[in-house]
Parts: sequence; structure tokens; C-alpha cells
Amino acid sequence: MMGQRPVLVLSQNTKRESGRKVQIGNISAAKTIADVIRTCLGPRAMMKMLLDPMGGIVMTNDGNAILREIQVQHPAAKSMIEISRTQDEEVGDGTTSVIILAGEMLAVAEHFLEQQMHPTVIIGAYRKALDDMISSLNKISTPVDVNNKEMMLNIIKSAINTKAISHWSDLACGIALDAVKTVEFEENGRKEIDIKNYAKVEKIPGGIIEDSCVLRGIMVNKDVTHPRMRRYIKNPRIVLLDCSLEYKKGESQTDIEITREEDFARILQMEEEYIQQICEDLIRVKPDLIITEKGISDLAQHYLIRANITAIRRVRKTDNNRISRACGARIVSRTDELRDEDVGTGARLFEVKKIGDEYFTFITDCKDPKACTIMLRGASKEILAEVERNLQDAMQVCRNVLVDPQLVPGGGAAEMAVSHALTEKSKVMTGVEQWPYRAVAQALEVIPRTLIQNCGASTIRLLTSLRAKHTQEGSQTWGVNGETGALVDMKDLGIWEPLAVKLQTYKTAVETAVLLLRIDDIVSGHKKKGGDQSRSTGAPDAAQE
Ligand SMILES: Nc1ncnc2c1ncn2[C@@H]1O[C@H](COP(=O)(O)OP(=O)(O)OP(=O)(O)O)[C@@H](O)[C@H]1O
Ligand SMILES: [Mg+2]
Repeated sequence: MMGQRPVLVLSQNTKRESGRKVQIGNISAAKTIADVIRTCLGPRAMMKMLLDPMGGIVMTNDGNAILREIQVQHPAAKSMIEISRTQDEEVGDGTTSVIILAGEMLAVAEHFLEQQMHPTVIIGAYRKALDDMISSLNKISTPVDVNNKEMMLNIIKSAINTKAISHWSDLACGIALDAVKTVEFEENGRKEIDIKNYAKVEKIPGGIIEDSCVLRGIMVNKDVTHPRMRRYIKNPRIVLLDCSLEYKKGESQTDIEITREEDFARILQMEEEYIQQICEDLIRVKPDLIITEKGISDLAQHYLIRANITAIRRVRKTDNNRISRACGARIVSRTDELRDEDVGTGARLFEVKKIGDEYFTFITDCKDPKACTIMLRGASKEILAEVERNLQDAMQVCRNVLVDPQLVPGGGAAEMAVSHALTEKSKVMTGVEQWPYRAVAQALEVIPRTLIQNCGASTIRLLTSLRAKHTQEGSQTWGVNGETGALVDMKDLGIWEPLAVKLQTYKTAVETAVLLLRIDDIVSGHKKKGGDQSRSTGAPDAAQE
């Protein structure tokens, strides 16, 4: 009798799915995500227009940017989206490829699951295939001379010509290379290329794209604090501060009790003396320009104007860091510690210009800037946002090549070559593992296939002849011309991709497929209780108030 009573382990509002159903569900979710952005691959890519939660629109064909905006419910779909973000953070390009590839890796596994093959066998084969993919990719890679400007521009162009900015590819490639070269920094044999912090893209709507440029210095969206300050200074001496030029207020609420009137006057006087003191400290090093991250009081402005010093307040910390790198000034936090070495003299020009409706401060013409601002102009905010994303891709590709100067052919050639190598290897394999292994080889063909599809050529015919081509010795660089759909040698077309991007794409795609195949149970449900508890622990604080 007792055995018949149902035992409830999971709470009633949890949903649970398990077994084959979950695996098939995961695979179809992954395929759906891949289908969303399949048309965004290659030089004939389509764009997507998305409404973001704030009501603005995003127009893009960048895989990561698209997926970031769409909301999905299925957990497997969520993890697919996550890999696109990882790819973006890690190497900055290949976010579309990685999704398409991962989707295909899972799609080919479906067949084996239907035939009751155990996921562990498939996973084993996938892992083995990944190792071989990496080694054969390394084999077909070629080193590149990073000082060869023409070659570098060509590589960047390969990344850019799949984007909306491709009409201005010469301009964009020049900008990307210039910016990355500027922030390249070598110290004790350690190479640092920090694009995120030191190459800032500033978008100013208006003008035309051709007006965009890399400044030899920094631009910030600020004006001088007082209209009587100079707005044009040649060879400025720059002092950077991260403290405020105001009278310090108490940390918490302070009460002062005074009984005599002289005491009150004395307090005011002390405040004035304090400001005067810090201004004197500053004036001692004879700066022309003072930039601080905090505020500047009216009185301090008065003293600074008298000494013919221009001041800018409340710049962002990151902007201050960039200015520091560009003009060689050191950011000082106490005015009494200011020394002559801290003053930056690397910039030859300070200028405040009015563009459109706003004032912008330019600190340019620097002698050896290790940071820069990329000024983008364009017709609208949405276009500028897309141009920025494209430039980021280009800069990341450039950085990847500078860090690891190895290239593989693009246009699906690398995939075909690796696929061929895997197929050859699978022929000597025995056991049931060889089938999923061979399926991985087949899945790699999705990249050239999609490139062919996206330019509207005949998929089966071209792919068959491309496959045949790769069986010949020395034709590993043959791939698809994404513009015309013809088969070409990538050496002639000049489409190259950094090895780092390709490696990351393969690793992420296979790892994700493996991870999703390993799942055989999805439990979902809300933890209402937990929410209540956290609220009740927060309650005592509220009660005290
Ligand atoms: N002219 C071309 N002909 C053929 N293939 C090309 C050409 N230019 C680029 N490709 C290929 O297109 C693919 C890259 O496409 P795309 O830049 O649209 O996507 P992604 O790099 O994967 O993702 P994203 O750039 O959105 O992060 C690469 O496989 C590359 O080799
Ligand atoms: Mg790309």
C-alpha cells in the first residue's frame, strides 16, 4: 500500500524534462538560434533591424549584437547566445561563425541520438575531432610580417568587407590600423594592446563618414569651466588631477556651533585660504591647462583665471587616463605633491571646438601618444553605432594579428581544408566513434555552404567541386568568393583571417556542442521561498530607519 503513495521530491511548480526529449529540444533550440543569424555571414550579409528594450533601434549584422538584443526562453538557446558574447570578448570577431558552427555541430548529432547512440560516444568523438582540428589548423596557418602595412590592411579588409562599412573600407582599415598601432605598447618585453581603454571611439552625429579620423591625441566632450578662459593654447603644460578644487566638506553630516560672529568670519576665511593654497600649489608649476575628475569652485576658477590658466572639470576617469597617456602627464591626487615632472608637455595643441551643438575639447598633435580618440561622423546615431561596432571588429582583428602573427585563409577555405584532413583521418579509424567524427568534418562545411547560399549561387554543385578541389595536393587555400560565388584561391583574393579567431571559433563551437549534448535533464521552476527569505533578511534594516 505504501509504495503507491506518490513521493513529491520536487516542489510542485517546478517543471522537469529528461532524457532524449531534452537532447532533441536543445538541438532544435540551437538550430533555431543559428538560423536567426545564418544570413548575416559573409560579404553579402543581410542586416537585421531590432528594437531594443529602450525603444531604440539597432541595425547590424554583427552576430553578437543581434543575439544580445533578442530575448529567448529556452535555456539552451541562452547558452548559445552566451558563446557569441564570449567570442566577442575573447577575439572580437567570428561571432556569427561560432553560432552557425555550433548549431551545425549539434544538428549532425541529432541523427546519432535517434539511432540510440549514447551521448558519451558522440562527445568522445567530438573531443578527438577538436584536437585534430586544432592541429590541422595550425598546419595550414602561415606566418605574416606585421610591419608590412599593405598585408595588414588586407587582413583588416577581410574582416571589414562583411560589414556595412565596407563602402569605406580603405578609410576604416586605415583608421583601425592607425589606432591599434598607436596604443601598441611594449614594456619589458610584454606587449600590451588595450583597445578598450586607450582607443576610444567618439561618435558625433552629423557630417559624413569621410570626415572620421584618428586623432593624434584625445577628444572629450567638455568645455572650459569659465568663458574667460583661453580656448586655444599652443604647447600647453597640462596638469591632471583626480581631486576636487573645492573646500572639502565633512564625510558625514557635520555641525559647527559658533557663538561669536568673528568665528564665523574665521571659518569663511579658512575656506578661502584653503582654496588659495591649493591654487598656489597649482600655479607654482606654471600650467596652462588643468583637468580634474572632480569639481572646481568659483573661487578656484577666479584664481586660475588670474593666472591665465584654463580649467576643465568633471572629466571621466577613463578619459583622464587616456589624456595622461597621450600627453605624458601624471594624474596627481594631492596638489601639494605636485612636482614639475608630473606636468604633461607631450601635446602641441589644446583647442575647444564647437561641433554641431556641443563643445569638444581637443588635446592633439601629441609627440608620442599611447592613447587616441577615434572621431566618427555619420548621418545618424544608428549608423554611427553600427560603424563603431564594425571598427571594433577591425581593431580586434588587427590586435589579434599583432599579438599572434599567424593567418589562415578565409572564405571557407580553412574549413574545407580541416574538413578534408578529418575525413582522411576517419578512414583509418575503427569502431562506432568514426561516424560522429566524420560528422564533425561534414559539419565544418556549413561555413562555405552558408557563404555560397548568401550570395545566391548553386550550393550543391559548388560545394562538390570545392570538396574535389581540396583532395588535390596544394589547394588548401581554395575557397568561395563570397561576392560572386565562384571558387577561387584565397591567395589571389586576399581574404585572410587571424589564426587566433579561427581557433577560438572551433574550440567554442565544439565545446558548446559537447556541453549541450551532455545535458539530459532540465529542471526549471521559481524559487518563491528564496525570494521571500532574502527580503526578510533585508527587513531589519528597513525597520531601523
Ligand atoms: N570576400 C569574401 N569572400 C568570401 N568569404 C569571405 C569574404 N570576406 C569574408 N569572408 C568570410 O566571411 C566570414 C566572416 O563573416 P562575418 O564577418 O560576417 O561573420 P563573423 O566574422 O563570423 O562574425 P562577426 O563579424 O559578426 O562577429 C569568414 O569566414 C570569412 O572568411
Ligand atoms: Mg567578421
